[in-house]
Amino acid sequence: MCGIVGYIGNTDAKEILLKGLEKLEYRGYDSAGIAVVTESGVQVFKEKGRIADLRSVVDETVLAHTGIGHTRWATHGVPSHNNAHPHQSTSGRLTLVHNGVIENYLGLKREYLEDVTFVSDTDTEIIVQLIEKFVNDGLEVEAAFRKTLMLLKGSYALALLDNQNEDVIFVAKNKSPLLVGVGSDFNVVASDAMAMIQVTDQYLEIMDKEMVFVSKEKVTIKNLEGEEILRAPYTAEIDASDIEKGTYPHYMLKEIDEQPLVIRKIVQAYQNEEGKLTIDYNISEAVSEADRVYIVACGTSYHAGLIGKQFIEKMAKIPVEVHVASEFVYNMPILSEKPLFIFISQSGETADSRAVLVAIKELGYKSLTITNVQGSTLSREADFTMLLHAGPEIAVASTKAYTAQIAVLGILANVVAEFREQQVDFDLVKELGIIATVMEALCDSKEQFEEIAREYLAVTRNCFFIGRSLDYYVGLEGALKLKEISYIQAEGFAGGELKHGTIALIEEGTPIIALSTQNEVNLSIRGNVKEVVARGANPCIITMKGLEEEDDRFVIPEVHELLSPLVSVIPLQLIAYYAALQRECDVDKPRNLAKSVTVE
Ligand code: F6R
Repeated sequence: MCGIVGYIGNTDAKEILLKGLEKLEYRGYDSAGIAVVTESGVQVFKEKGRIADLRSVVDETVLAHTGIGHTRWATHGVPSHNNAHPHQSTSGRLTLVHNGVIENYLGLKREYLEDVTFVSDTDTEIIVQLIEKFVNDGLEVEAAFRKTLMLLKGSYALALLDNQNEDVIFVAKNKSPLLVGVGSDFNVVASDAMAMIQVTDQYLEIMDKEMVFVSKEKVTIKNLEGEEILRAPYTAEIDASDIEKGTYPHYMLKEIDEQPLVIRKIVQAYQNEEGKLTIDYNISEAVSEADRVYIVACGTSYHAGLIGKQFIEKMAKIPVEVHVASEFVYNMPILSEKPLFIFISQSGETADSRAVLVAIKELGYKSLTITNVQGSTLSREADFTMLLHAGPEIAVASTKAYTAQIAVLGILANVVAEFREQQVDFDLVKELGIIATVMEALCDSKEQFEEIAREYLAVTRNCFFIGRSLDYYVGLEGALKLKEISYIQAEGFAGGELKHGTIALIEEGTPIIALSTQNEVNLSIRGNVKEVVARGANPCIITMKGLEEEDDRFVIPEVHELLSPLVSVIPLQLIAYYAALQRECDVDKPRNLAKSVTVE
């Protein structure tokens, strides 16, 4: 949620900031702005809308070598010019961008800033006004910045400019992600390395409650007590071409197509020299010793967790509970004696999941994060990490990360099963090879999914996904994909639950996408299809080779049944993609959403 960038060096700051913001647009895209230090002081350009809208208001003739920028996902205050960042203090001396939420902003406003006139509805403006107040009281900017940070409660990644000292960008972080990139005669600030990978691959991790003073020659990190901290940069392993769309019209389509490659990469990454699947011994041991595994995640990652539960229970024979992170903290279940927590998160930054991680760490429990982003907050703070190796996922709707999460959970379950001497009656490496090939075949069948989208979803206002067992979980994901990018009201239902209420929603022509890839439930889900058809529904049955019947709409080539979610989700991803396209929605940046949800 929200992305921030900063640059201090010798070349044109505007373009580096704008390009960086374009890479961060997935974090929020309702307004954007930059502030640059010019000969006549700091100049701010901001605009409601996308970075492209911001570009149109930036004065191209302005020359600046230092600046900060922001792309916003609104929390406090509607998307508008006034609420867009950067925000300035009353005198105009200080300019700030902020990602996060300041929980005590109203209290701070009441206590310190009663006589200040605010121009926005944001919590951010309180921060910049507070720093100015302490400067007016006689403190140096560094001391005022520090004093302010000590008063803030909540999450923040901040970058501040002082127009009386153009040689430094003041930076700080608590809970929200932030990195400082190191160059030869410049330095940069960014919410993630992707934003600035074009200019440097050397990054310094910034920890919570640290302040950083970034000049073009050096980066000084201090804790809030003012003590200097020395830290070496790491190399961010991101291929700049991974973050380009190439010839694809949308990132989502590119990422759907990348899935076979991602599965192959994952297998390689977790294979040892003999070709055997292997994971860190400590992870196998920790999971094996647990009397219960608690999977905690949000959205699509939660849906992957539901599949992961089946894998771990069926292969490793350890009981698993799956929880939505945002509910867990308030409704913590009675935990088992020796729990192990698995956090699944593409971004590794999701605030709801992090809140649970913080809570269970306080209770002394062990945790494993499964994430796509090395060095992300959840990865750093958990005891163990397993990486997805999916490459950057840029489209807001998650596709390749979902299948990567399922594959990694499969590998985890398989290795732990072996560790616990549990018999697994199939060769996962071989089966994942088949999966990758079937994924390719599905990606090559795009016209059929485009046709299904046109036939079923062109004008409907709702659509229901039904399935049983694993197909039900995949249906939940299919419904989420469809609703988030096409705005069709889509819901996933367990086939058996229809008659307990939801069948009342069926009207003449209601599209029902039914998944039937599991032998055990094939007949029962087909029975459910008949029930909805009898009430006027328009069914689209997607099945698996060996289970097909005459009127089925699409037959997926056969894969191992337990692993079927890895392939059965692809038709649903593509149907959602084409439905959104046909309805002229912004596929990669659906309304109201952001990719990385860093506020609770
Ligand atoms: C949907 C989607 C979201 C995320 C959710 C969790 O397509 O992407 O539902 O899955 O916001 O995000 P991560 O996995 O980054 O924790």
